[in-house]
Amino acid sequence: MVCAARKDANGRSINYLRVSVTDRCNLRCFYCTPVHGLNLIPHSEILSYEEILAVVEAGLNLGINKVRVTGGEPLMRRGLIGFIEKLARLEGISEVALTTNGVNLGQMAHELKAAGLSRINISLDSLKRQAFARITGLDALDSVLEGIKIAQQAGFEPIKINTVVIGGSNEDQVEDFARLTIDKPLEVRFIEFMPVGDKISWNPGRVISAAWVRERIERSFGPLKPLQGRKPQDGPAIRFSIEGAKGTIGFINAMSGHTCADCNRLRLTADGHIRPCLFSDLEFDVKNLLRQVADREQIVALLEQAIAKKPASRTAAPCRRPMSAIGG
Ligand code: 5AD
Ligand code: SF4
Repeated sequence: MVCAARKDANGRSINYLRVSVTDRCNLRCFYCTPVHGLNLIPHSEILSYEEILAVVEAGLNLGINKVRVTGGEPLMRRGLIGFIEKLARLEGISEVALTTNGVNLGQMAHELKAAGLSRINISLDSLKRQAFARITGLDALDSVLEGIKIAQQAGFEPIKINTVVIGGSNEDQVEDFARLTIDKPLEVRFIEFMPVGDKISWNPGRVISAAWVRERIERSFGPLKPLQGRKPQDGPAIRFSIEGAKGTIGFINAMSGHTCADCNRLRLTADGHIRPCLFSDLEFDVKNLLRQVADREQIVALLEQAIAKKPASRTAAPCRRPMSAIGG
């Protein structure tokens, strides 16, 4: 069964579901971890893989054909390989992607490939060992770099690297990240720092604009060439390349030029809530439905409701849930 993607009230085709499978993480990135500690979701409140699959199957009826598995850190959850296998086998799913911090990727990349995973994004904010440890709380840069290498060997291509550029933290490394694209087919994507979670570490002064990053890169490597045409999997990134480079550079203007008009996604939180927009705390409780009636029709109806209520554009309302629970 392949269904056409459902359009929301603003004419956007919603075909993409981001699924947070856990709020647990083996890193403590300072911008993601509330200072008072994470309020972890009790295990009983986290959706089982069967429950997540039931939501995805309901989404198939509405034309959802692309799923991204996120966290927290998704590779922390037991049984993930089997889950990915089941997801990838669903008829109508054209792509299963994963966002990981890469720490355990080396051990799992080949199995993930064999399970049918299509693409991998790796979050990496520093290429310097000490700065990496300062940002994430763990001295694990080597494991992440090794993970990227093994994922490439396993046949994932292109691998995307997500780098949140934060003033006073890693903006001195943008050239190092850009340089990675010269002889490797990597897509490095620079993301503007967004006020998500309890915003303790966020302030406007730490937001580094994509324009600033681009200028710095061009000063070192010459004018960036815009990539022709946008492919659906580009998502919110605007892509360029350094002359002669194997890889590409993307900018996600999450703050300065965010285009809600192109948004094609819904999110499923680890504790079973459908979230139409990262920046709005409006959520629909699908867990209750799953645990009380588990009727496909009703889940489809709830997803339809969530699509209908997808905000036209981002509001100034705060997003209170930590990113680790929403799944980025
Ligand atoms: N602003 C921008 N990106 C963020 N991420 C987590 N928190 C923020 C934030 N406040 C990123 C992670 C990861 C992706 C899932 O979201 O670094 O790459
Ligand atoms: Fe973990 Fe990602 Fe949050 Fe870092 S940003 S602590 S890697 S969930």
